[in-house]
Amino acid sequence: MIFPEDFVWGVAASSYQVEGAAGRDGGGASVWDMLGRQPGRINNGDTGDIACDHFHRYREDVGLMAEMGLQAYRLSVSWPRVLPQGVGSVNAKGLDFYSRLVDALLQRGITPWVTLFHWDFPYALYCRGGWLNRDSADWFADYTSLVVDKLSDRVAHWITLNEPQCFIGMGHLDGTHAPGLQMGVAEVLLAAHHALLAHGQAVQVIRARAKSPPLVSAAQAGTVSLPDTDQPADIAAARASMFSIREKRFFNNSWFSDPMILGRYPEEGIRLFEPEMPALQAGDLATIQQPLDFFAANIYSGNYIRATPDGDFEPAADRKLPETAMGWPITPEALYWGPRFFHERYQLPIVITENGMATDDADKDSNSNDPLRIEFLQQYLQQYARAIADGVPAQGYFLWSVMDNFEWAEGYAKRFGLIHVDYATQQRTLKASAHWYRQLIVANGGNLTG
Ligand code: BGC
Repeated sequence: MIFPEDFVWGVAASSYQVEGAAGRDGGGASVWDMLGRQPGRINNGDTGDIACDHFHRYREDVGLMAEMGLQAYRLSVSWPRVLPQGVGSVNAKGLDFYSRLVDALLQRGITPWVTLFHWDFPYALYCRGGWLNRDSADWFADYTSLVVDKLSDRVAHWITLNEPQCFIGMGHLDGTHAPGLQMGVAEVLLAAHHALLAHGQAVQVIRARAKSPPLVSAAQAGTVSLPDTDQPADIAAARASMFSIREKRFFNNSWFSDPMILGRYPEEGIRLFEPEMPALQAGDLATIQQPLDFFAANIYSGNYIRATPDGDFEPAADRKLPETAMGWPITPEALYWGPRFFHERYQLPIVITENGMATDDADKDSNSNDPLRIEFLQQYLQQYARAIADGVPAQGYFLWSVMDNFEWAEGYAKRFGLIHVDYATQQRTLKASAHWYRQLIVANGGNLTG
């Protein structure tokens, strides 16, 4: 058996993408509600107001998860649902929702993994400067205390931030995601630094207050470099590329993971960003660098890299790869090289906290027939198994996503789910991939054919 006996098979989703009921039951608005009100920001004018109505239908959804034999569900808590102003008075009904959801999961033998921040930043705190305000780290730590006090008697697995690469880079530099800003690099670096401080303080809070021994990490948007060939020079080139920072962009691995795990910003990035670097305060890096229990990577795709004759790296020649409905190249080897390179650098066991694909084949044929997704998952998981066989310690795999949901700026047009959602009726239908995943879990991955 390649996958360890205690390996965890799960699915993931996030609050804003599935819950709906935005602002109702006393919750506050998030920056995604704000973006949805601005014309032209989200495909088709879609919003998360209703989404999958998971807020009301969570029992049915947990029932479907149990039917699929899932062992874990990675959910996120909506910060403004539990703290309408981001700080201060608590919306008890919001907090209670998560408590009931956790109970429902545990009753069905499904372990909840809780992400504290999956992009629905409180609108009220955005109006106070958002991540640009250094107080954001304290705001997040206080919010973390509230959630940990409420749930940690039943929850052990915690993810602080989901993909700082995206909510910082796409939210503050490109402006395609909430809060939709296109700021200068100096301001983006400052926001990133505060998000890192927020992570560090949240880990401290979790370790200090959790009622059951916690396991903590942050989910990184893993951008994976793949060696063009198996030649050692190309492998070294891909490894170097994977942690290198040569452009003033934020979709990279080391700017966020190095401070969190190694306690320093990467040298190459410091040189590149030298004119824009924020002034760090004494003790900042010590706060950001907290012991983590595993490396959490969200991996969807990779880029092929080759060595240059002078020992540097460059993009390999175009390969004409098949693509998902998001236009992302299908590169199963990302689940081999990603875990391997991340483990080599950070020396932590790996958990894939997201992997999956958007495809609309289920819609074209019947709601439930999605052979492209099954093929994708099979190929990616074979590569994950290969990494494990080659010695990478791996603890789990979370498929994105349990059900079709609000795909951010793409609205409802892109479907990532194992469960098909008819948004007009909220009817759920298990896709063929859901049945396939169930069998895979029963066999602990042993039925992946090579
Ligand atoms: C995010 C999810 C998103 C998925 C597909 C990840 O970057 O964490 O919220 O839906 O990718 O785009």
